[in-house]
Amino acid sequence: MPDTHFGSRTVPLDEKQALVDDVFHKVAQRYDLMNDLMSGGLHRAWKDALVTAINPPKGDGVFALLDVAGGTGDVSFRTVDAGGYGTRATVADINAEMLAVGRARARERGLDDVVSFVDANAEALPFPDKSFGAVSIAFGIRNVPRIDVALAEMHRVLRLGGRFLCLEFSNVDVPGLDALYELYSFNVVPALGRVVVGDAEPYRYLVESIRRFPRPNAFGAMMRAAGFGRASHRVMSGGIVALHSGWRL
Ligand SMILES: C[S@@+](CC[C@H](N)C(=O)[O-])C[C@H]1O[C@@H](n2cnc3c(N)ncnc32)[C@H](O)[C@@H]1O
Repeated sequence: MPDTHFGSRTVPLDEKQALVDDVFHKVAQRYDLMNDLMSGGLHRAWKDALVTAINPPKGDGVFALLDVAGGTGDVSFRTVDAGGYGTRATVADINAEMLAVGRARARERGLDDVVSFVDANAEALPFPDKSFGAVSIAFGIRNVPRIDVALAEMHRVLRLGGRFLCLEFSNVDVPGLDALYELYSFNVVPALGRVVVGDAEPYRYLVESIRRFPRPNAFGAMMRAAGFGRASHRVMSGGIVALHSGWRL
């Protein structure tokens, strides 16, 4: 069995998913609050850029988004808010606690008829071929043990002419900001986790997993290997995140 990384640890590939599930089990109830605190609200701007690229139609045209590793549904809620009458979103996530928080939020917002939640592994999506107009994954792909398998699955369920978008942390390469970002990530983020969630460990994992994720060009090559055409990316906030784009051609 090959090894992989779980944060700074090397673990057998088959053991990574259970460790990741444990992280999101611990943080689910406070996940959205922690996102705001850790990013100083910036994650909202990054997700807005993602939704702009998803570009749901404003009219009544039917449009179906699949948001993989969609957790508590943030990207899906934003997409149906931005789209017209015919826009629907499906959140697929492997973690029952994250999905439960998302379902409750959908009910509170009166969006439970347009956003649905499905317990699913990104590596084996329970959807037919070519069934979605767009597929997104935000801050999710680095948690998936077999990224190549998940990319192939997301390509399979995308319609011809549909767009794949992946928002993920990247590499800060602005002199000065890089050192500040390191300091913040390895000190402030776990400390926030300890105060807000009662445990610093999940946030140590999150920070380490960001550091280990492939650089944008290497990830672009993985997208092309999975079949996506016109793979490209743009970095935001000095490289803190990258928005990757590809098409099913
Ligand atoms: C950092 S959260 C991102 C949630 C949401 N996309 C957002 O941006 O707010 C990562 C999510 O990936 C999910 N996840 C991890 N491994 C997964 C897998 N193999 N298949 C589907 N979801 C997975 C976790 O359960 C968690 O909800």
